[in-house]
Amino acid sequence: MDRFIIEGNRELSGTISVSGAKNAILPVMAACLLAPGKSVLRNVPNLIDLKTMSHLLRVLGARVEYENGMMSIDSRDVCFFEAPYELVSKMRASIYVLGPLLARLGEARVSFPGGCAIGTRPVDLHLKAMEALGADITIEHGYIHARAEKLTGAPIHFEKSSVGATINAIMAAVLASGTTQIFNAAMEPEVDSTVEMLNKMGARIQGCGSTTLTIEGVEQLFPVEMEMISDRIEAGTFLIAGALSTKPVTVENCLPGHLDALLEKLRAAGCELEVAERSITVIPPEVIKPVNILTLPYPGFPTDLQAQFTVLMSLAEGVSFIEDTIFPDRFMHVAELNRLQADIRMERNVATVKGVKQLSGAEVMATDLRASAALVLAGLVAKGSTIVSRIYHIDRGYDRIEEKLNAIGARITRENA
Ligand code: EPZ
Repeated sequence: MDRFIIEGNRELSGTISVSGAKNAILPVMAACLLAPGKSVLRNVPNLIDLKTMSHLLRVLGARVEYENGMMSIDSRDVCFFEAPYELVSKMRASIYVLGPLLARLGEARVSFPGGCAIGTRPVDLHLKAMEALGADITIEHGYIHARAEKLTGAPIHFEKSSVGATINAIMAAVLASGTTQIFNAAMEPEVDSTVEMLNKMGARIQGCGSTTLTIEGVEQLFPVEMEMISDRIEAGTFLIAGALSTKPVTVENCLPGHLDALLEKLRAAGCELEVAERSITVIPPEVIKPVNILTLPYPGFPTDLQAQFTVLMSLAEGVSFIEDTIFPDRFMHVAELNRLQADIRMERNVATVKGVKQLSGAEVMATDLRASAALVLAGLVAKGSTIVSRIYHIDRGYDRIEEKLNAIGARITRENA
């Protein structure tokens, strides 16, 4: 199992580039099931989660190829409708095949996703949306079994904002007969990019960027080519790395419009920011100011940057409060950060972070994707060396993070322990 050895307390400076967005690519890969033929996606990074989704699409009968950032998915021969436990248990986003399989084949059997390191993550909203469109759902032997000869457009009211359920509902509704309206739809950029792809394929979805979407079902969708958006969470992680440094860091190939909530908090922490069309330069403060964070659905502060921002706050001059309202149990990184001599106390879903002068290198363990990114950031600024084990978590969502950070001054070595 690979681990990182990070030599801390080094100065970062220069330019670092952001890859395509994992969480935008995963649903778009599933959406390719809806358009028989060969679709092509560009700006696709080399990530374990995308390999897992490729594997799943192949199991369903698709041909998937990947080379030099370009992925082609030929879904002409898709005829199997089961997403097996081995794959769903590796990656919850496998649930994204539920809507497309139901719409294309009239049947889907998807292993029921269990809990994960960031807490219980139900799929009730996905299932209610499919039922609203006329699917008959049963849960048997750990599998969700959904059937519908033909889905029928209907109103879908989400009681909670959910990225995954919104996207699954859209993908099921695009081929349904009649009109579907989705209320309280999630507004994350990953929803917009899936809508853009589906509309390019011939779907009729209106209301993109708002909480109400209207979908007129169409008879057929057609394969397309599309450039994937850049990853706002990877960009945010690098901006926080810059904020922790002593020299300016430029994050290029990013979409600043997707990062407003983070940029506001970085400014409040004392950072100066130079925002251009596709890049942001962060000029770190001499003294980091404490800032409170409340994670919320987009355009609020993303839960996927909560752990990384906690690292910044662990070195602030004063006390900050960090609350996760999306995944209340997503604080596994706190105990590990405290091993690096951060001073963080947990009470329910609120972390009270008392800034310290310096973190101190130690051995820590990555527990999930964003927690691992936080531990890498902490290791970069800690005194001495930090060993982060179980970094397969980070390879799920960051493409060559150590190479990218080393190119701006970090010293991170990957070791097979
Ligand atoms: C997506 O997960 C992302 N995953 C997550 O990124 C991200 O943390 C999350 O959105 C929130 O932004 C992908 O895009 C693949 P949700 P998703 O449904 O869609 C509750 C990362 O690190 N809920 O928007 O699963 C849920 O428990 C990951 O890249 C239900 O109650 O999240 C949560 O409290 C981890 N019932 C809230 O809604 C449901 O049926 C929002 O979750 C579905 C969700």
